Amino acid sequence: MTTFPPGFLWGAATAAHQTEGNNLNSDWWRREQILPGMEPSGDACDSYHRFEEDIDLVADAGLGAYRFGVEWARVEPVPGSFSKAALAHYRRVIETCLDRGVTPVVTLHHFTTPLWFAEQGGWLAEDAVARFEAYAAEVCRILDGVEWVCTMNEPNMLAMMLRMLPRLTETDEEPWHSPTTDDASLPELPPPDPAIGRRLIESHHAAREVVRERSGAKVGWTVANRALVARPGAEARLQELRHIWEDLYLEAASGDDFIGVQSYSSQWVNEEGIEPHPDSPDNTLAGAAYRPDALEIAVRHTAEVLPHVPILVTENGIATGEDERRIAYTDAALRGLAEAMADGIDVRGYLHWSLLDNYEWGHWGPTFGLVAVDRETFVRSPKPSLRWLGDVARRGGLA
Ligand code: GCO
Repeated sequence: MTTFPPGFLWGAATAAHQTEGNNLNSDWWRREQILPGMEPSGDACDSYHRFEEDIDLVADAGLGAYRFGVEWARVEPVPGSFSKAALAHYRRVIETCLDRGVTPVVTLHHFTTPLWFAEQGGWLAEDAVARFEAYAAEVCRILDGVEWVCTMNEPNMLAMMLRMLPRLTETDEEPWHSPTTDDASLPELPPPDPAIGRRLIESHHAAREVVRERSGAKVGWTVANRALVARPGAEARLQELRHIWEDLYLEAASGDDFIGVQSYSSQWVNEEGIEPHPDSPDNTLAGAAYRPDALEIAVRHTAEVLPHVPILVTENGIATGEDERRIAYTDAALRGLAEAMADGIDVRGYLHWSLLDNYEWGHWGPTFGLVAVDRETFVRSPKPSLRWLGDVARRGGLA
């Protein structure tokens, strides 16, 4: 049997905007209304009201941790004015976890900001760092008993996405155009914007200090890891691209209490750049190659950059309509993770993405959930993979 150490956290992850529904006051909600081809999030999974059911699903399956997001747009609907009711709501979510014996892993920022923040210039505005820090300070009021806080989710992907999405600044006169649709010379995704990346790093550091001062939680952030691998002769190119995509954000975590690793698939790098995912019938519903080995590659690389920072796998999973494939993928990913741990890499837990079939940033098609959600009635139907992962957690390993 492949075993994991006692106390290893087993859980599932979600994000506020993707599950709560009606996040009306956020930048993403606005973009969903104005961008052609984007499906709206609407009621999402109605988790704002059904969080108890979600946490029960986690606990009843035998999982011991639940990662969820606090939504800044709800907590600070108008600049400088914080909603006591929204904070009380998130306190109830935390208490529900604690009551059920589930360790809450709280994310303060998962891609979305209040609409006003975006309209006032977003992360490049002069007061952006102070705004985020003030929001983080307010959330500390409800963090009693919370051991794990992620300040931000995938800052590297955010710095890329903000390049591709329309700006919402009130004064912006330049017409927006999507680099992916208009610029055929771009091989795939545009690289993260380094100016935005630096602001996110500053914001993370500011929030980290506040959370450390005002709560007992371990603080970190989560970095999307593309598990890039060099073709022969492309090692230098790999290092250069990895720095732009990941290492800048990993290095910024050198003083953190943990680093969140998130990985789904792997890609080759040749001398020209990152190779697109091969066109294969095996690809996931998100268009990525089926690469369960991505997690091991990601964890090993993270440990190389941050040898002294404990790792928490904050996301790993697969968009598929076939649940047996989710089980096969996760089984293989966990075996790879165990290999990395056997080599001495300090990994504290594994949180599967995602608990629910939720809103996937513009689409409802790619289903990542351990649990299906009826979009009309919000009825949750656990898939066999939920029970399978719960059994792994109970056993503390893979049979
Ligand atoms: C991200 C996020 C999640 C996604 C997940 C699947 O990676 O973009 O953290 O919000 O839904 O990764 O793509």
